[in-house]
Amino acid sequence: MKIAILPGDGIGTEIMAEAVKVLNALELRFETETALVGGAAYDAHGHPLPESTLALARSADAILFGAVGDWKYDKLDRPLRPEQAILGLRKHLGLFANFRPAICYEQLTHASSLKPALVAGLDILIIRELTGDIYFGQPRGRRTAVDGHFPGTEEAFDTMRYSKPEVERIAHVAFQAARKRAAGSGRSNARGKVTSVDKANVLETFQFWKDVVTEVHASYPDVQLEHMYVDNAAMQLVKAPKAFDVVVTGNMFGDILSDEAAMLTGSIGMLPSASLDKNNKGLYEPSHGSAPDIAGKGVANPLATILSAAMMLRFSLDQPEAADRVESAVKAVLSAGLRTGDIWSEGTRLVGTREMGDAVVAAITGKTITKS
Ligand code: IPM
Ligand code: MG
Repeated sequence: MKIAILPGDGIGTEIMAEAVKVLNALELRFETETALVGGAAYDAHGHPLPESTLALARSADAILFGAVGDWKYDKLDRPLRPEQAILGLRKHLGLFANFRPAICYEQLTHASSLKPALVAGLDILIIRELTGDIYFGQPRGRRTAVDGHFPGTEEAFDTMRYSKPEVERIAHVAFQAARKRAAGSGRSNARGKVTSVDKANVLETFQFWKDVVTEVHASYPDVQLEHMYVDNAAMQLVKAPKAFDVVVTGNMFGDILSDEAAMLTGSIGMLPSASLDKNNKGLYEPSHGSAPDIAGKGVANPLATILSAAMMLRFSLDQPEAADRVESAVKAVLSAGLRTGDIWSEGTRLVGTREMGDAVVAAITGKTITKS
């Protein structure tokens, strides 16, 4: 098995080093190969997603991705900006199903900006469609307006669109995920629930989305389906987040709602994500970005990347026990009171990126963790 390691920019290299350390501590049989991506690849090769990096990603069984982006690249033409690397990987590898769990760890309930009672025990899953919608829809560009409010002036436009098969396949992913969560919960009569988020009251694309999701739902009588407009969903996420189970939505709404959901848990520095193709080959990345403001300081939280590696072991590499070991180790480290700055609170021990990674490794290999 081969894992492509793409650290990227900013804190990407620091957090990736910790995740690789954790993977190595598991003593499994796999090979890793590292390549440049994002701004780092642009600096070295003149392109954020060089052919060689794409070829490695294609040939690997799974991809572990850090983060890309830095303000210093903001002036480049769009096709050369670091963000194009992750968008290109999603598109070229057909990674249409993005899983973004928002889990509030018991030890971090007080790190959330919401009242503990609202977020204690939170465990929801946002499934974001990742290769369609206004992100990729053509045509797009700038031109002189021929109609609209100001004909003859400069305008810009993007295209929001979804085809039926695109909506169908992500709907299947969501219903199956809800079914699996319900089965795994141990609750009798557990009825998985899917909330499909749309803007059917205004947009043609999302009336279509709603119709197709409803059609697909006919094959999943054991799963409950509810529809919610995106503005209301944004509100309900901060009002009663635990009322959600699985949320499925388009690329754009999913981008926004998944950041909102992440913050419910206290820190985006804790949340992993998986982007899967139709064969469950996947790219795994922390939900947070490259954080250039804290890059190189050794203070970034590596846990989201470490937990992304755990997701990779579970979804793409068929190593559920190894995934459990990593996740238990992370919980043990939190219980021992170790915290990076983003999740620190009174009475816990502030540690840096490396110390956090070392502590997870120690928990995996059975060494004791120094209590706070
Ligand atoms: C994300 C990010 C990306 C997106 C950016 C970096 C292109 O915000 O993964 O959520 O918008 O999808
Ligand atoms: Mg985003």
